[in-house]
Amino acid sequence: MCGIVGFIGQANCNVQEVLIKGLEKLEYRGYDSAGIFISDQKGNAQLFKTQGPIAKLKEIVNFDSEASVGIGHTRWATHGAASTENAHPHQSNTRRFTLIHNGVIENYQELKVKYLPDIRLKSQTDTEVIVALIEKFVLEDNMQTKDAFKKTLSLIHGSYAFALMDIENPQVLYAAKSKSPLLIGIGDDFNVIASDAMATIEATNEYLEIEDGEIITLTRESVMLERLDGSIVKRDSYQAEIDHNDLDKGTYPYYMIKEIDEQPAVIRRNIQAYQNEAGEWDLDLPMLEAIRKSDRLYILACGTSYHAGLIGKVLFEELAGIATEVHLASEFAYHPPLLSEKPFFIFISQSGETADSRQALVKVKQLAYPTLTITNVKGSTLSRESDYTLLLNAGPEIAVASTKAYTAQITILAILANRIADNDKIDLGHELSISAHAIESVLSQKEKLQTWVQSSLKKSRNAFYIGRYVDYYVALEAALKLKEISYIQTEAFASGELKHGTIALIEEGTPVIAIMTDESTAANTRGNIEEVKARGALNMVISMKKLFKEQDDFVIEDVHALLTPLVTAVVGQLIAYFATLDRELDVDKPRNLAKSVTVE
Ligand code: M6R
Repeated sequence: MCGIVGFIGQANCNVQEVLIKGLEKLEYRGYDSAGIFISDQKGNAQLFKTQGPIAKLKEIVNFDSEASVGIGHTRWATHGAASTENAHPHQSNTRRFTLIHNGVIENYQELKVKYLPDIRLKSQTDTEVIVALIEKFVLEDNMQTKDAFKKTLSLIHGSYAFALMDIENPQVLYAAKSKSPLLIGIGDDFNVIASDAMATIEATNEYLEIEDGEIITLTRESVMLERLDGSIVKRDSYQAEIDHNDLDKGTYPYYMIKEIDEQPAVIRRNIQAYQNEAGEWDLDLPMLEAIRKSDRLYILACGTSYHAGLIGKVLFEELAGIATEVHLASEFAYHPPLLSEKPFFIFISQSGETADSRQALVKVKQLAYPTLTITNVKGSTLSRESDYTLLLNAGPEIAVASTKAYTAQITILAILANRIADNDKIDLGHELSISAHAIESVLSQKEKLQTWVQSSLKKSRNAFYIGRYVDYYVALEAALKLKEISYIQTEAFASGELKHGTIALIEEGTPVIAIMTDESTAANTRGNIEEVKARGALNMVISMKKLFKEQDDFVIEDVHALLTPLVTAVVGQLIAYFATLDRELDVDKPRNLAKSVTVE
C-alpha cells in the first residue's frame, strides 16, 4: 500500500534522485500513482505528481535549483480514484503546507464539516482535509506549525503515517505515525524517513523506530521524537540487516521466480538460525513455557499467512498435541469466537504490518493474553507489540505474491511445534533438509510444469484445485497464487466436497489440479479425480513418489507426511508463475493488490 520517503540534507545531495530511488524500492507495496515535493534551502519548491508508474513521474521531474529537502509518495487508492489529482503530496490552500499520508482517516468528513466548511478541496482524498486543517490552525489560530500538526493529530480517528513540510521553514521535516509503518533513518549530515528501511538502505543502515502517537521533527543534523503531550522520547537506533543484493532481481526476469528459487536456501538458513552450535533446537524458553501452559493455540493471520496457519494447526496438533484454531484476523478482530480458559495467540505475518492482524492483536492485548508473532520483518509493528517474535529469515520478499515467506512460515511453525513436544517428536533438521532437496527437484523440472500450463491453462477462465487434509490447505494457497497473479478464477475444494455441489461447475476442458500426498485419503482423492474426469475435466495430478501411479502428471520426492506442503506449494507457485507469463501480465505487481496491506 502507500509508500513514504522523506529526505533532509545538504544542498548538493540530489534529493529528487534519493526520493525516486526510494519510491522505486517501495513499488513492491503496490501503487497506482506517485509524486514528490522538493525544495531548496530558500523554500523554492516544486510539486510533481502523476497517475501511473514511477517511470512516468521521472519523466516530469525537472527542478533547476539544488533541492535539500523533499517528500515522496506512492499511492494505493482508498479515497477517490487513482488519478493525478488524488495522488500525493497534497497541499494546503496557500500551498504553504505539503503532506503525504499512508493510512485511512476515518473521520475526515466530520472534520471537514466541522472545521473547514468553506474550503474547496481539489481531491477526493482524506489527506487533503488534514493538510487544510493544519493550515487553518496556523493561519487562523496563530499556532506554530508543530502545534498545529499536533492539534490535528489529536482530532484524527484512523491510521496514519504522515510527512509534512512547511515551505516557510524548509530546514525542517515533520512526521508522525499511528497504526501505519514509518521509520527514521539516520545519516551523516542528513536524515530520512521511510515506510520501509528498504527504501533508503542505500543511504543509511542506521534506523530508529517510531511508536504510535509520536511526532518527529527532523533537520539534517537532528532528530527529535516527542509524544503529543510534549514529553521527549529517547530511543536507541539499530542497524537494519538488509543485504543490498536481496533487493536486486539479478539476472532473474521477475522477483517472484527469484524468490521461488530461494526457498531451499531459506529452509536451510532457518535450520541454522534456530539450532545452537551443538545442533540442538534453540528457542526462547519463556515463550515455550507460555505455550506449554496454554490449553489451546489460536493462530490469526490473513491471505497466504492464514494458509500457512492452517498447516500450523496440523503441525501443532500432530507434533505437540495442542488443540489449535486458525482464524482470519479480519474476522476475529470484531467477532472473536468463544475462547478457551488459557489461550495462547500466534500471529503470522510476512510484513508484520497487516492492519487486519494488527487490529486482532489490539483485541487480544485488551484481553491480556500472551502473544507470539511469526514475521519476516524484525522490528515490525506486530513484532514490537507481541510478547514474543520468531523471525522467518527469508530475506526481503518483493513480489506481491508471497512464496518464500509461506514456506518459511511453515518451517518455523514446524520447528516450534516440534519443540513444544516434551522431546522433539521427529528429527526435524533431517526432515527439513530432505524437504529442501525435494524442492530443488521440483525447481529442476520447471519446463515440465511450463509445458503443462501452456497446454492446459492458456485459455482457461477458471480452474480448480482439490486435495484432502494438508493437501487441501495447500490447494487453498495454490488457488490464491494462481488467481492473484494470472487472474484465472481459481477455487480450491476439499476433494470430498466436490460431489456436494461444486462438481456442477465441471464441464469439458475445465482444469482441475489434484494435490495428493496424504496417504490415508489418496484412494478417495483418486476416486474424486475419476469423477471429474468422467465429466470432461482436464486433470493434473500432483502426487508423491510412494503414492505414484502411471497416470500422475507430476511427482514430488518422498518427504515427511507433515512437510509435503513445503514441496507441493512450490509446484503451485510455479504453475501460477508460468500461467501469468503466458498471459503476458506483470508477475510481480498484479493489478489492485498491495504487498503490505496497511488498511483494514
Ligand atoms: O504481510 P502478511 O503476511 O500479513 O500479509 C497477508 C496477506 O496480505 C498476504 O499473505 C497476501 O495474501 C499475499 N501477498 C498473497 O500472495
